Amino acid sequence: PPNLQMVEEDLGLERVNCRAKGASSGFKVAILGAAGGIGQPLAMLMKMNPLVSLLHLYDVVNAHGVTADISHMDTSAVVRGFLGQQQLEDALIGMDLVIIPAGVPRKPGMTRDDLFNINAGIVRTLCEAIAKCCPKAIVNIISNPVNSTVPIAAEVFKKAGVFDPKRVLGVTMLDVVRANTFVAEIMGLDPREVDVPVVGGHAGVTILPLLSQVKPSCSFTQKEIDYLTDRIQNGGTEVVEAKAGAGSATLSMAYAAVKFADACLRALRGDAAVVHCAYVASEVTELPFFASKVRLGRNGVEEIYPLGPLNEYERAGLEKAKKELAGSIQKGVSFVKK
Ligand code: NAD
Ligand code: LMR
Repeated sequence: PPNLQMVEEDLGLERVNCRAKGASSGFKVAILGAAGGIGQPLAMLMKMNPLVSLLHLYDVVNAHGVTADISHMDTSAVVRGFLGQQQLEDALIGMDLVIIPAGVPRKPGMTRDDLFNINAGIVRTLCEAIAKCCPKAIVNIISNPVNSTVPIAAEVFKKAGVFDPKRVLGVTMLDVVRANTFVAEIMGLDPREVDVPVVGGHAGVTILPLLSQVKPSCSFTQKEIDYLTDRIQNGGTEVVEAKAGAGSATLSMAYAAVKFADACLRALRGDAAVVHCAYVASEVTELPFFASKVRLGRNGVEEIYPLGPLNEYERAGLEKAKKELAGSIQKGVSFVKK
């Protein structure tokens, strides 16, 4: 493809580049894995976000195609494409927020942990570059298995001497989005008005919806609780099976990722009371990482809320979740340490 930046300069459109370089009035966001099933709609939605002034799209394939396409949208963010490892550092310099949906997705019959062998290395490489080029950026990790890739990211940053637990966030927003949708469906509510805290992690039994804390307050039968818990925990598998080998959730994930990224940017801007569930370094349980409600601010995670009162069903779920999570966290930590 033509080098768009050169063509723009030839045509005397330096102002676009000035806007990209200056970009002082908004945030600079990079998407790593921007040409993928999640990356493309995520890039499109971030281009529509008025808080974004500069959008860097990085991938090992097709980054320029996606960039050319998205750059024609008449919204204010300037878009730049970066292809291949040799352009990774340029993609990251100066970024405020880095979103990582790079990596392989599941096929039917696989667990998220089956992706570890490929995705662990991808996340490690990307985080090494973040540590070098934009260590102060907020990092949103989508690549699975999230329960292990977040500990991997943390270990990489620790090794580089730049780990800030406030800035590394595993994206579990899709679990909340699904929970809100499924609860709204059975209660006959508008999903936009429902808020279900989902804690723990992002795989199977580690996904723990706290149905006793749903807002607006709902009372469920045990049958409803069993149905909802099972559907929320297996929402990802529902999509993997429906796609029958063509990948996992991409569109609902892009929606959830943008909802979360937008919250991070609003918090960076200084908005108050930005509270969402995320998988972060935490002392809420004895485990070093756990998903729960966090308050986001100018530095990332400003406050981590306790789980609140759990009923017996949820306490049993929590024990199961912690058991599995402990192994996934250890696996991620060992991967970087070994
Ligand atoms: P995809 O295969 O469609 O896209 C992945 C993209 O990553 C591809 O464009 C690929 O070229 C790119 N990529 C591979 N190696 C890379 C590298 N080293 N650097 C940069 N880019 C690289 O997959 P997808 O459907 O977009 O899913 C991506 C990941 O997100 C998977 O691991 C999936 O399991 C995960 N996921 C997480 C959630 C969540 O809730 N956190 C939800 C859905 C999917
Ligand atoms: C999801 O929850 O949809 C993702 O984690 C993808 C998957 O593999 O299920």
